Amino acid sequence: MKVLVIGGGGREHAIVDAVSRSPQVGKIYCAPGNAGIAQQAECVAIKDTDVEALRDFALANGIDLTVVGPEVALAAGVVDAFKAAGLRIFGPSKAAATIEASKDFAKQLMAKYNIPTAAFETFEDYDAALEYVKKGSFPVVLKYDGLAAGKGVVIPETLEEAEETLKDMLLDDKFGKGKVVVEEFLTGPEFSFMCFVDGLDVYPMTLSQDHKRAYEGDKGPNTGGMGAYSPVPIITDEDLEFSLEKVMKPTAAAMVAEGCPFTGVLYGGLMKTPQGPKVIEFNCRFGDPETEVVLPRLVTDIYDVFSAVADHTPMPALEWKKEVTMGFVMASKGYPGSYEKGYEITIPQHLTCHSEDSNAICHPEETSTICHPEERSDVRIYHMGTSFKDGKFYTSGGRVLMVVGFGDDLQQAHDKALEAVESIECDNLFYRRDIGWRVL
Ligand code: AMP
Ligand code: GLY
Repeated sequence: MKVLVIGGGGREHAIVDAVSRSPQVGKIYCAPGNAGIAQQAECVAIKDTDVEALRDFALANGIDLTVVGPEVALAAGVVDAFKAAGLRIFGPSKAAATIEASKDFAKQLMAKYNIPTAAFETFEDYDAALEYVKKGSFPVVLKYDGLAAGKGVVIPETLEEAEETLKDMLLDDKFGKGKVVVEEFLTGPEFSFMCFVDGLDVYPMTLSQDHKRAYEGDKGPNTGGMGAYSPVPIITDEDLEFSLEKVMKPTAAAMVAEGCPFTGVLYGGLMKTPQGPKVIEFNCRFGDPETEVVLPRLVTDIYDVFSAVADHTPMPALEWKKEVTMGFVMASKGYPGSYEKGYEITIPQHLTCHSEDSNAICHPEETSTICHPEERSDVRIYHMGTSFKDGKFYTSGGRVLMVVGFGDDLQQAHDKALEAVESIECDNLFYRRDIGWRVL
């Protein structure tokens, strides 16, 4: 089978890695991919939002199944375009992707179907929003309604800060013209509950936990995620049962009832509040960096899993490894704000090249690579934003690498990942050393 993966981050590297373990898959393409992905797939220079070019590529190259990573591609209608052309594709329609693309849509859906979430009100008008915020307590949660690459949520502690944020979002259109959801501030540990969903059918994946803040001690601005681990021992079986029965299944049913059935990965970003799990956000795709710690633990052939959802056929039982995972994101200094690119990264050879021949040289840009990542099981490096030139890797994004350690327990996985992180040299990267602090 020929598989096309759309996207070019750590999530897509982990998807490509999982697909490469399927004995049914002979050839993997990734558009646009990145320098790490190029070690395991043929990268194709097509932008993830260029829907027509992606469809034409799939048609011209006899792609059997396409898997979509990023929300921007889904919101651009890539699934609808592929289906209209008779192509098999894993991911939600543009209409179903609205559950992530519009925070207001998601909140209204939860309110209508009694799905537990923070109290909220949506505003288009600056003065009305400010008036509402003045009457409430602090901190308050302000969310830009549309897609904002993980940067559209601000949690002001003071009225001045709230005023500034509302100005940015509603008067200066910092993220584009759009509404703002004002939300009650909730407390408790967060966890990521990703489920494969096909209409009314919901198949839970093992849990993971992300670390959203940029700096240690959960300080600093929100990011796309600075590290993750799986599973999450502080979430009990009871929490999990509640989250499946009272959140994920009712949400899938609500999407069917609203005429936009969901197919693909429904990501519940949940918080274990003193009143029980509540929804912080929904995403319409795999999480990043959660995917990098979840998919390596999947034993079931992922090609069968994607096919079951894409074809609406029975899902094989999902089986997970006992081995656990923890991963550290190495990001460009300045992220999630502005940052420079093009810094050389030196990754020790035993971490990049997994060939038994210690003199072997990796050629990440050649698909006939001599790398055999499966031969090394205690650390895996997923590339989030790298490029490759003249035998060297360079930084090319905000988040650059996700270094995942494997172990019998989370402490072991933590130690292995951190040891690998510390052996990677680059003048412009930072990372949090406290990934997993809630459970170690
Ligand atoms: P979101 O993009 O909606 O997931 O928000 C980003 C992050 O902001 C979340 O992962 C939480 O850490 C935080 N956050 C969002 N909504 C709330 C809330 N209602 N209460 C407390 N923290 C929140
Ligand atoms: N890591 C959070 C997200 O993928 O949105």
